[in-house]
Amino acid sequence: MSAHAILGSGSYAPTRIVTNDELSQRVETSDEWIFTRTGIRERRIAGPDESTSQMASAAARAALADAKLSPADIDLLIVATMTPDMPMPAAACLVQTELGLSADTACFDLNAACTGFVYALDTAWAMLASGRYRTALVIGAEKVSSVIDWSDRTTCVLFGDGAGAVVLGSAVEGSRARLIGSKLGSIPATSSALMTPGGGSAPASPDAPKCITMKGKEVFKLAVRAMDDVAREILVAHNIAPSEVACIIPHQANRRIIEAIAQYLELPLERFFINLDRFGNTSAASIPLALDEARRAGRIKSGDVVLLVAFGAGLTYGATLVRF
Ligand code: UT7
Repeated sequence: MSAHAILGSGSYAPTRIVTNDELSQRVETSDEWIFTRTGIRERRIAGPDESTSQMASAAARAALADAKLSPADIDLLIVATMTPDMPMPAAACLVQTELGLSADTACFDLNAACTGFVYALDTAWAMLASGRYRTALVIGAEKVSSVIDWSDRTTCVLFGDGAGAVVLGSAVEGSRARLIGSKLGSIPATSSALMTPGGGSAPASPDAPKCITMKGKEVFKLAVRAMDDVAREILVAHNIAPSEVACIIPHQANRRIIEAIAQYLELPLERFFINLDRFGNTSAASIPLALDEARRAGRIKSGDVVLLVAFGAGLTYGATLVRF
């Protein structure tokens, strides 16, 4: 079976910065509370005319440029999102048009909430491994601000908007860079901990809130357990010791969740790339946005083993091991 690798990455964040101080003028909160409990200082919020597909397209263009490939090289496009522009068509089809991808590109959205990008990466990898697709664009993009109740201080301080993308294709001959492994899962009967109850086809949906509702403490515990377990499982499955991982890109939800995982895996916190202080939780965009920043900041070098690890509503979880 031919090997596949991440050939390039890109990201996009809206220009508007909303600080904790600004939020504390809208709801009863403070920079001190938000920073101490989450590690977040500020987040980016999309403008009223800015959509998920536009942010996704901007990130994808940057990823194509980084991979030195053109839209004509792409025959598979997956957008991981829980905030598509509209229920249909898929945001991926809008991105296809925006980028000028050919008509024989397979385009679809994938929703695994904040784990979406890791799910999409595994899906694209399996499709490439089938031999029926050559090169994929895998994007995580979210306008989370569109499903936030801005009067609910328990959720509105946590999230932000943005997009990140990678190009996945055949590993370059002679290069060690490749995808090593992937593991996905979902903990049953945990959906009420984190959800957007309204806006869908459930019978109670018309009256239910169309914004994120969350049992924060329950999610916190589930997240630590799920990410710690899946990180261990994937490392054992590929016979890689935690100390051999050069950089961990965790879902950027809460600094305290990341600190707990670092402690359980007995790894120094410096090994984890953290940018949630500037972006908050951008859901499916969080990992590709952080991955792209980490690469551009020189935190990932050629030959490095990198672990991506995420959790999200469902409660879904997943991990990917990549060598760059
Ligand atoms: O992608 C997945 C997204 N979700 C997550 O990752 C969430 C995981 N959970 C968390 O990150 C944490 O549980 C939170 C940051 C959401 C909350 O932190 P916590 O330490 O679990 O706080 P808490 O919910 O126990 O709230 C403590 C107090 C409460 O007041 P009382 O009942 O002690 O008087 C809250 O009402 O803090 C209050 N509170 C706030 N105060 C100021 C809740 N939100 C705020 C706020 N500002 N924004």
